[in-house]
Amino acid sequence: MIRGCGMFRPRSKGVVPARAADGKAPDTKHTARPLMTSDKLAVVVLAAGQGTRLGSARPKVLHEVAGKAMLDHVLDAAATLAPERIVVVLGPDMEAVAEAARARGDNLHTVVQERRLGTGDAVARARPALAGYLGPEDGGDILVAFGDTPLLTAETLRAMAAARRAPGAPALLCVAFRPEDPAHYGRVVRGPDGAVEKIVEYADASESEREIELCNGGMLLGDGPLLMSLVAQLDNDNAKGEYYLTDVFALARAAGHRVGVAEADPDEVMGVNSRAELAAAEALMQVRLRARVMAQGATLVDPATVWLSADTAIGRDVTIQPNVYFGPGVVIADGVEIRAFSHLEGATVEVGARVGPFARLRPGAVLGAGARVGNFVEIKNATLGAGAKANHLTYLGDAEVGAEANIGAGTITCNYDGLTKHRTVIGAGAFIGSNTALVAPVTVGAGAIVGAGSTITREVPAGAVTVARGAQKDREGGAARLREAQRKRQARAGDGASKT
Ligand code: UD1
Ligand code: CA
Repeated sequence: MIRGCGMFRPRSKGVVPARAADGKAPDTKHTARPLMTSDKLAVVVLAAGQGTRLGSARPKVLHEVAGKAMLDHVLDAAATLAPERIVVVLGPDMEAVAEAARARGDNLHTVVQERRLGTGDAVARARPALAGYLGPEDGGDILVAFGDTPLLTAETLRAMAAARRAPGAPALLCVAFRPEDPAHYGRVVRGPDGAVEKIVEYADASESEREIELCNGGMLLGDGPLLMSLVAQLDNDNAKGEYYLTDVFALARAAGHRVGVAEADPDEVMGVNSRAELAAAEALMQVRLRARVMAQGATLVDPATVWLSADTAIGRDVTIQPNVYFGPGVVIADGVEIRAFSHLEGATVEVGARVGPFARLRPGAVLGAGARVGNFVEIKNATLGAGAKANHLTYLGDAEVGAEANIGAGTITCNYDGLTKHRTVIGAGAFIGSNTALVAPVTVGAGAIVGAGSTITREVPAGAVTVARGAQKDREGGAARLREAQRKRQARAGDGASKT
């Protein structure tokens, strides 16, 4: 069911270690030591492209899929390999991206590719950040990934890493796929034995090479010093006048190294270059995320109508009715029911609580075990204790509601005075009557009862009954007298009108 989940296609199509060009099997030309015996790994993510076709002022890799920047998807997938170092290659004027990336940790470095001279040049720009991966005495593997392939999975990367650790592993590994429409992808050219000979870019490919269905997904993994020495040998004598990273495979072969190919699901290597492709990536990601929460024990009554964020955490025996939106930062515990048309972000919902229909949980909303939040209720930066209820037409912002408290329909916490926000604290077991305005900062003590229609501006003592509204006055028989007076007024007005 999970298409694009990163498993390589059937084993026969998996990693194919190629034989050395000269027929000699062992790969000993570059160094005497066996390749990839350690787990030392550096990841280079290419992200210098501006993404002109997205028509955006924002750098392409910051566009989001499932509420997370594309670059973060790639970096998170790469992080599962526990690389010793990550280098992100950015374009000029991408300082915001650089800062966001570096905030991820000390092992992340950024380098700038001043001019976009091709994927091979981009990898070469990473050299200053790759000390320890450059010389024959250094060793270590380098993984090159693209910043605009958000669907890349940890599984595929792990399978590639495993292929590099296997006995007789190839020095370099490319990732190939068979797209429905091979269009302008680079083509993987293999010899009669199935070994990779080279990758030819579409613009440079002959008629017969364009017939090849096996396309280059873009990522590669291989021996670091070897890769960097090959990258230094690239030229731009080709149809696009670019330094193609893909030329390293032919160079590796020519130097007697073995090149392997790992075949991945086409969805996974999909690159995002336009808004339409961004939407397509989003759709594929949603399918994947829905499958994940269902596999973890959640019931999605109508999966296609539930939108999830990459970090949405949903427990077991959770039921989600149709048309529910989970923005970033939502955690749902076991046994929760989310009814239709609810919108949640930055919210935590504890065991057995019920949300919606038509509820809105904004950042900082925390619903305790068994709490109930019903239709047209908005909760922001507020905690509801276990078993507390706010079932209808209510706004609770910057508030703390005790366990088992009952918030009547139409209750509003007036948290904002036009300048700053203030807190409302409602004690355990309190009862707030319908249409109450709580003018913060204000406290309602535990167990207190507030009469409907109250405007509460100062503390309600615990256990008190408080009513704060205009007192009711009743004039016996007054309705008939009032109607008579109205009729007379109307008649006088009519007389006046007919005289003019
Ligand atoms: C590349 C491959 C092609 C493969 C395809 C898969 C090369 C030469 N071609 O082509 O074989 O089928 O990906 O999607 O590698 N970038 C830089 N600096 C540059 C150029 C690119 O950082 O100077 C980055 C881009 O931001 C992008 C990635 O490298 O993240 C790929 O570049 P792109 O121009 O999209 O490569 P393709 O032409 O799609
Ligand atoms: Ca591309």
